[in-house]
Amino acid sequence: MHHQLSTFLIASAFAMSLSSLAVAGPREDLLAQYASAAKAANPAFGGFSAQRGQTLHSQNFTTGKPDSPSCTSCHGTNPRTAGKNATGKVIDAVAVSATPTRYTDPAKVEKWFKRNCNEVIGRECSAVEKGDWLTYVTSL
Ligand code: HEC
Repeated sequence: MHHQLSTFLIASAFAMSLSSLAVAGPREDLLAQYASAAKAANPAFGGFSAQRGQTLHSQNFTTGKPDSPSCTSCHGTNPRTAGKNATGKVIDAVAVSATPTRYTDPAKVEKWFKRNCNEVIGRECSAVEKGDWLTYVTSL
């Protein structure tokens, strides 16, 4: 009896840890993908930096569209509060602590990185830039 109960408890604990892994999955998967792309591009890649992500987020570029020189043009200077686009449409906060559903759909993340980096910087973001930015907004 005792033995059966402990087997059951161990099995339940194992199932629970598996399901929490699945819930935490998409963001970690994305970061792992960006990390291996970054390593492939530069073997000296030493990991992502929230600090560099913050710089990228608030930096003013002159190489993209003049009316959106920065990520903050739409997402606002504080990632924990909502932003808005040029037509005034509200954009939910980009910090995961404020909008927990963020970055769980890899296709959506890729689509907007591509579009927004082109608008702001005039080119696509590198794997390092995407990983840094994602590290920044998930660390807040
Ligand atoms: C012209 C306005 C605008 C600018 C500038 C902008 N964004 Fe966005 N961004 C949006 C909109 C609109 C969405 C989609 C709506 C949403 O996710 O709430 C979005 C969504 C995203 C997403 C996907 C979010 C998710 O939940 O998957 C990422 C990643 C992102 N932006 C990164 C950036 C980065 C990095 C920059 C600066 C290089 C930037 N954005 C600049 C308007 C903008």
